[in-house]
Amino acid sequence: MSQPLDVLGGITAEQFLSEYWQKKPLLVRNALPEIANLLEPSDVMELALEEDVTARLIKQKDRDPNQWTVKSSPLIKADFQKMPKLWTLLVQAVDHYSFDLAELWKKFPFIPQWRRDDIMVSYAPKGGSVGQHFDFYDVFLLQGYGYRRWQLGQMCDAETEFVAGQPLKLLPEMQVNFDEVLAPGDLLYVPPGLAHYGVAEDDCLTFSFGFRMPNISEMMDRVSDKFSVDEMLRTPLQDLVRKKSTQIGEMTATELDYLKAELWARLQNSSVLDDAILSLMSEPKYPENIPEVDEIGVGDLEDALDQGYQIMLEPASRLLYANQLDEVLFWANGEAICVAEASIPTLQKIANGERVLLDENLYDANILEDLVQLLNESILMLLPAEDA
Ligand code: SIN
Ligand code: CO
Repeated sequence: MSQPLDVLGGITAEQFLSEYWQKKPLLVRNALPEIANLLEPSDVMELALEEDVTARLIKQKDRDPNQWTVKSSPLIKADFQKMPKLWTLLVQAVDHYSFDLAELWKKFPFIPQWRRDDIMVSYAPKGGSVGQHFDFYDVFLLQGYGYRRWQLGQMCDAETEFVAGQPLKLLPEMQVNFDEVLAPGDLLYVPPGLAHYGVAEDDCLTFSFGFRMPNISEMMDRVSDKFSVDEMLRTPLQDLVRKKSTQIGEMTATELDYLKAELWARLQNSSVLDDAILSLMSEPKYPENIPEVDEIGVGDLEDALDQGYQIMLEPASRLLYANQLDEVLFWANGEAICVAEASIPTLQKIANGERVLLDENLYDANILEDLVQLLNESILMLLPAEDA
């Protein structure tokens, strides 16, 4: 049995996963005091104006707060002029810009990395919100600055109707059964489908640690992309032993079954499904946040070793591994990557979220070469000892 976790208010990860995860909300006071004041409203404003940042500015009309507008990035200073009383600024993937924030993912070690999406921050003045809504998304809401009042309501689904004529998917009503004000460091877990409504009590920042949920349609899309580039699959299928058709207008059940069986056979007897899913799940959500780096060589890495640098996953990149046919295969940023046997334990550690110190264990030509390649592709990054 694992340890009770402070971030979960003293319950264990097992308990959380079996009782709350994707089932019901959980409020934990002072779950993550480290997040309090990590960023301030002015930091979020500045970030929102940066090139490549994905952000949205949501406004409610002063005359009728039920009328909403949304301006998506790129945002410019002029977008913040003549502001109404109620507005919210949402900035995605703040964890790609703040290592301190990215480090806080480690507080949720019971959910695999491939399920992580990004950390979004919302900034709103008193009264600001994004309206009553639900998401098909697991999210830990962490109050970072100021106070926000959260109301939770009914479970919704794909049939739920939204307010007509608005740029946001807003719920016409909410049956409120939870009403609490969150202070800096407090956490609220909201399961997918649960109606929620967060209104700023004062100038406030809320961080959403979001978890992507794969859907069949996107997986199918990827499978079909992979199959469509396979030349072998363009070979026309031979007829079954053809008998004279009774009715030429009919496609018989045998004929249909034969074609389906051939398709099934291809789906089952190939690595395409694995490839499709692993490439999808290792794909970065914000590839534009992956920095271009100056290429280094093995010698440069050895110098870095001597200076106590650490190696970690570049926050905007994704790296995962899977055991397939007794082999450990690595996938990074949507592509399978080939690494030497000797590099596997080090890369597993990094994929597991560890920072690896470049000590003498890594003085192996194969490992160094693999690391250099992954550093040059910005899948990994070097962190000077003083920043670690
Ligand atoms: C917010 O922080 O205001 C919005 C987060 C959410 O509702 O998912
Ligand atoms: Co939401």
